Amino acid sequence: MYARTATASVVAAAFIGAGVLLMSAPGAPLPDAPATRPTVQRADPVRHADDAVADGPRVYAHRGASAYAPENTLVAVDRADALGFDWVENDVQLTRDGVPVVMHDTGLKRTTNAEEVFPDRAPWAVKDFTAAEIARLDAGSWFGARYAGTRVPTLRRFLERLGRNRQNLLLEIKSPATYPGIERATLAVLKEEGWLDRAHVRDRLVIQSFGADSVRTVHALRPDVVTGFLGAPAAAKLPAYAAFVDQINPRASGLSGGYVAAAHALKGPHGKKLQVNPWVVDDAASARKVDGMGVDGIITDAPDVVRAATKG
Ligand code: G3P
Ligand code: CA
Repeated sequence: MYARTATASVVAAAFIGAGVLLMSAPGAPLPDAPATRPTVQRADPVRHADDAVADGPRVYAHRGASAYAPENTLVAVDRADALGFDWVENDVQLTRDGVPVVMHDTGLKRTTNAEEVFPDRAPWAVKDFTAAEIARLDAGSWFGARYAGTRVPTLRRFLERLGRNRQNLLLEIKSPATYPGIERATLAVLKEEGWLDRAHVRDRLVIQSFGADSVRTVHALRPDVVTGFLGAPAAAKLPAYAAFVDQINPRASGLSGGYVAAAHALKGPHGKKLQVNPWVVDDAASARKVDGMGVDGIITDAPDVVRAATKG
């Protein structure tokens, strides 16, 4: 069974509508634009983070269900939805004109046909292309011919799809040093799309990054948002991180039960124990191993495999 597939025309229209996001100066208040679209609420209750362990660790579909569909696309989150997964992990970057788009690599070569469409634009960095240019690219054919015409989604369009699917988002700010102001730009779109209201902030959104300063910035701009640090700071440094992150999300290899316990002994800025969500765990044995360490969640390209290995 396959998930719904976004048509090229619909996605292209989303890009045309995305417009240019003008970034305000660092330190200025977040734009207080009213929500432009109604927020889609879940019909069923969302599990709280503290409930997740009862059914096994929470499973995050990494870059969408990226083992089965082209990563960081609407098709990939639809696939996660079709498999029954309500949490997805995706990456955000900025275009040359400041539009947040969902993309993992800082270059366009691996997952799009940018070289073919723009042959004279080496090295094909995301930051060198406008949103309108990126909207022309095929982000699906590299994964399989059946995905031809799949587009790079704007964050705005992406959030709309998650809302329609009633899914939740672990959003990674990718390469923040490359994109000054990306935290503010990302939060502005989240706000405009209704993702910073109380229900979303409490249960449906986490913002993480490999950049500690980026996470600190998000926490300073929106202290109510749940945050995560990607990496494994020394246990002695975890108390300092607990001042601004709720999650420590390390690479799975090298993780130990002792490290998980050290994190769990601390409380994050929202008064709950620090969570630990390792990545990227794609096989059953590895999933059972980190589950045995007491992790709170597992970030995986193959969420069905991990769920089957760890449930109950
Ligand atoms: O969420 C963890 C994971 O996404 C970090 O690695 O390179 O896949 O973004 P990467
Ligand atoms: Ca990521």
